[in-house]
Amino acid sequence: MAIKGFDRETFSSTLHSLLSASQPIDDPQRLKSRDREVDDLIMALEAPGRHAFIYGDRGVGKSSLAQTVATLVQSSDNAPIITSCDSKSTMLGVIQTVIAQAEQSIRDESKESSISLKLPMFEYKTNTTRNVQYTQVNDMHSAVTALCQLSQSHSDKPVVVIDEFDTISSLEEREQFSTLLKHLGDRKAKVKLIFTGIGESLNDLLCGHVSSARQLHQEKLCVLPWDGRYDIIENAFETFNIKLPDDIQYKIAGLSDGFPSYVHLICEKILVECYRPDELIDTVDFPLFLRALNEAVRSVVETLRHDYDKATLGKPEHFYHILWAMADSADLIRNTEHIVHSYSGICDQLEIDALETKKFKTEFAKLRKETHGSIIVRGLGGRPGWFRFKENMVRGFVRMCAELNEVELDFDRNFTAGVQTAKASHKSRVYQPLTPTESRVERLRKNTRGK
Ligand SMILES: Nc1ncnc2c1ncn2[C@@H]1O[C@H](COP(=O)(O)OP(=O)(O)OP(=O)(O)O)[C@@H](O)[C@H]1O
Ligand SMILES: [Mg+2]
Repeated sequence: MAIKGFDRETFSSTLHSLLSASQPIDDPQRLKSRDREVDDLIMALEAPGRHAFIYGDRGVGKSSLAQTVATLVQSSDNAPIITSCDSKSTMLGVIQTVIAQAEQSIRDESKESSISLKLPMFEYKTNTTRNVQYTQVNDMHSAVTALCQLSQSHSDKPVVVIDEFDTISSLEEREQFSTLLKHLGDRKAKVKLIFTGIGESLNDLLCGHVSSARQLHQEKLCVLPWDGRYDIIENAFETFNIKLPDDIQYKIAGLSDGFPSYVHLICEKILVECYRPDELIDTVDFPLFLRALNEAVRSVVETLRHDYDKATLGKPEHFYHILWAMADSADLIRNTEHIVHSYSGICDQLEIDALETKKFKTEFAKLRKETHGSIIVRGLGGRPGWFRFKENMVRGFVRMCAELNEVELDFDRNFTAGVQTAKASHKSRVYQPLTPTESRVERLRKNTRGK
């Protein structure tokens, strides 16, 4: 026992009840810093005929938000129905799965209440007065009818989460959902659908077919604000009565880049490192933090590390330094000049010679090629001179790799006003402008915030 008061079993169960790097959350108490989004979604779903679409980067917490809202909106007579799409999904297939799950939940409920039910295919009775026969789903009309029936059979206010909508490869199938929503509105269906998908806009996901916009509340989800990141960290370490110094808390919050699964993962690995040795640990020190970070990096899923590995393994060392430079600052989209600035700062820290600017630019351009995982893409709608990581979640991983190599990145500084930023905090450090131009930018930003 290396954490006071926790044996092996209670340590493990407490750890996994607090930190879940690989499973969405559906509990409002555990969903941090999403109060505004939860309120907006609940309000929107109260409107008759309206459904919701949550979209944003991979890993920002879309499924967790969808499942938590579904739990809150769903009436207490049953649980929400949750289903995911894949590349081969069709609209009819998804609705068939939803109906099958609804039937299953009623069978389970009936088993629990040990009331014998007649279940010839789609017919059932419950302990209430419900007695509904589902229509078999084989076309648009029957899909709409079956969904309408959910409010007589499954629950008074049924909520369905359709996760990972972006993975459906067929454009026609995606568009079928727009038509479905329209018909549900026309039939005054009580069921509420919450979709999630990776994407920058709903237009991307519906491929420009926006006719469903009237029926859909759109919620763009950004990375977790700093206070939410700190909430997860504090909650975990307070429960185990382990002291985590402020600078390490700040590192975890910054390295995660606002992707909650990284916060969960790093905290989990630190707590496991605290538990491992024989002697009691009550404070986390820096070597322990680095060991845990190393474990976290090793366990990051292959899909996220793939492009980083492709860009760096077997290639000259400067590719690491350029990528770490890209992950510096709070700006998600970065201008060449600012990347060069970050790069030379990193070379100074490592006490190595930086590449000449011309050479830097040719090497940097390679990171946009397939040979280097195309890990960098153009930002700001393809404007020359502006770049971002192909996936923002990769940036958090790159930050962790930089930290492991003792390179300190600045998580707070905004070089550029008005571009997408990962900064959203009242707890982060105050940024001190360095040049007259930056002072102007900072003044502008403060003015904008004041409005
Ligand atoms: N607001 C939050 N507070 C605390 N933890 C969160 C929050 N949102 C998400 N998480 C945690 O982060 C992890 C990733 O969240 P989630 O699976 O919801 O993201 P996602 O956007 O659906 O990811 P993907 O794009 O891979 O489907 C989950 O394990 C969950 O535990
Ligand atoms: Mg998800």
